[in-house]
Amino acid sequence: MADAIFAEPRLADIYDLLDPDRPDLDAYVALADELDAHSIVDVGCGTGTLACLLAARGKQVTAVDPAAASVDVARRKPNADRVRWLVGDAMALPPLHTDLVTMTGNPYGAAAGGPARLRGS
Ligand SMILES: C[S@@+](CC[C@H](N)C(=O)[O-])C[C@H]1O[C@@H](n2cnc3c(N)ncnc32)[C@H](O)[C@@H]1O
Repeated sequence: MADAIFAEPRLADIYDLLDPDRPDLDAYVALADELDAHSIVDVGCGTGTLACLLAARGKQVTAVDPAAASVDVARRKPNADRVRWLVGDAMALPPLHTDLVTMTGNPYGAAAGGPARLRGS
């Protein structure tokens, strides 16, 4: 189930305005490059800033989040058409083969079992 804060369209629309520069994402982009990761799953993608950044660098990105309003914002961003967007709970993902899983902004805290369960799925 989506957290109401991220599923409310009026809040999803202003999420990026509250933190427009996102220098925290530089480390994730650098990590993807360092690991030479081609396929990346971004769990709890929210408004999709990281997913679109990675897609712009030629990465094959799947981005998942249960908050449809946030994913709607993400779909309107540059390079969004190069991302596979999934609206849903990361715990319900089918088995995926991927080089790297990213989680930024603490999405796993809302998911029972957290990262350990993601590793085992
Ligand atoms: C603080 S936001 C961070 C969004 C984005 N990663 C960022 O850095 O801006 C946390 C996100 O985790 C998502 N989330 C919470 N539980 C989730 C779950 N079980 N599966 C996938 N995403 C989840 C929320 O809907 C929300 O969009």
